[in-house]
Formats: sequence, structure tokens, C-alpha cells
Amino acid sequence: MTRPEAPAGAARELRSRYTAADLSVFTCDEASRFVPQGNGDPHTDVVLAWELLYRLEPELYDRLAGAERLHPGVVDWLPRDVDRIAEVGAGTGRLTLELMGRGKRVVAVEPARPLRRILRRKLAAAGQGGRVRVIHGFFDQLPLPDDHADLVVACSAFTPAPGHGGAVGLAEMERVCRPGGRVVIIWPNHLDWLATRGYQYVSFPGPMSVEFGSYREAVELAGIFYPRAAEEVRRLGQRTVPFEVLGINPPRDLAFKVLAHEAGPVKLTP
Ligand SMILES: C[S@@+](CC[C@H](N)C(=O)[O-])C[C@H]1O[C@@H](n2cnc3c(N)ncnc32)[C@H](O)[C@@H]1O
Repeated sequence: MTRPEAPAGAARELRSRYTAADLSVFTCDEASRFVPQGNGDPHTDVVLAWELLYRLEPELYDRLAGAERLHPGVVDWLPRDVDRIAEVGAGTGRLTLELMGRGKRVVAVEPARPLRRILRRKLAAAGQGGRVRVIHGFFDQLPLPDDHADLVVACSAFTPAPGHGGAVGLAEMERVCRPGGRVVIIWPNHLDWLATRGYQYVSFPGPMSVEFGSYREAVELAGIFYPRAAEEVRRLGQRTVPFEVLGINPPRDLAFKVLAHEAGPVKLTP
């Protein structure tokens, strides 16, 4: 699941946190993607509400992402010992921190400045500040050369909507991936859309829970991000809450494509 696709009803608390006046936080590049008509209302548009959250309350977003851990099978599945990895929409590093041991060089592309700041802070705390390059960029205009990486990956960030990837963004991820390398969309939505573009699907089984830091945090974050489940979270009285209680599909799956090697020049026999 990718955040902006959450059902609007389920996100009413989040939508009510911000107003149209908050859209002024967007840079011109951000506004051209997230409010292309020049106007928008986070009260009715949950996609906008998420983008405002990343910029106005990035620490709150980080607390949520930290609790929604990826299925270990997803991380295990990713290639190891590769030279270069590019992650797009890296956020505060839920996946980035897992990628550090897998590639000699990792570049994390993230448009929201406040999220880049948190990611850099975490990388420095992990002693990996020099090994991962955190840069500004968008799916549809990746600031990376052709064939740059062995693995190009996005986690809970890519959607078919043009402002959050779209056909142009997917083509960009494939441009940046070397022939024989993999483009991977973790926690995908719109599986049919990806399947028609040659992406295969993998899902990892087993029970999964959101692991909040404490029961108190579970109640607080559920009230904001899963209001329909807030009552049940209170009733359970524990810090770990099964994803099915919260009503969202867990981060247990991915869609991937291995990029074909281009056919070499045809050898003519004399
Ligand atoms: C739900 S967060 C996921 C962040 C992180 N990958 C994770 O798993 O925690 C979605 C991320 O996509 C980023 N994003 C949104 N639109 C984008 C775009 N057009 N290009 C690149 N990243 C984008 C957001 O800034 C945010 O960091």
C-alpha cells in the first residue's frame, strides 16, 4: 500500500490537521506536482494531507513509519553485494537503513526537505553518513545518469498518479537502472497497472503487526492515522497491533522487473 491511496474516510483526522493555507509550504517544483491546478484542499484530498504531513510534522510521520516495519522477507529478497543502489522517495529511511549493507554506494532521492534532514540525522547516528548520498529529486525527473544503479527501489512511495511517479516516473526508474538490474516497488498498489508494464509480484506470508513504541503511542497514532480502529486499539491495551485491526494491508509485498540486456550488434559471418 502506498500512503496516498489510503481510503479518504480512514484518514479524516489527518485531513483535518491542515488547511489550504498550508499549501504555501510547497516549493514551486512540489506545487507543480502536488497541486498542478494551483489549488487544492487537504480537507478533501488525502494525498495532499500526506504531503503536508511530510513537510509540517515530519517527526510525527517518522514515528508512524518506524512502527510500520517491513516484513523481513521483503528486505531479504533484495539483492546483496551490489555496487550501486538508488532509492526514490526514501522518506526518513525505513528502507534506506536496510540498504546500507547491500550496496557499496547508496543514493537516496527524497523531495521533502524535512524528511531528508531526519534521514541524514539517522544515517549520521548509524555512522553511515558518508556512505549514503541523500539528494533532492522527484520520480519523474531523477537526478541520476542512465544505467546508474544495479537496484532502483521505491518503498511505499510510487503510485501511477503523475505527481507520485506515474508512467514517466517508472520510465525514469528504468532509465537509471542498468541492463540486468532490478527495479523494485515495495508495498505496491495498482498491481494490474504494474503487471501490464512487465512487473512480477511477490508476497511474504505470516502475521504482521504495527509495533508502536508504547501503548500510549499506539492510542495517539491510531487516533490520527487509523481513526476507525482507534477504539479497538484502546480496547486491546497493548503496543503491538495486528495490521488487520488497523484495516490496512501490511508491508509484505513487492513488484519487480529485471531489465533486459539490450541485444548486441548482430555479427555477420563472412
Ligand atoms: C509514505 S512515504 C514513504 C517513505 C519511505 N520510503 C518509507 O518507506 O518510509 C512516501 C514518500 O514518497 C515521497 N514522494 C512523494 N512524491 C514523490 C515524487 N513525486 N517523487 C519522489 N518522491 C516522492 C514523499 O516525500 C515521501 O517521502
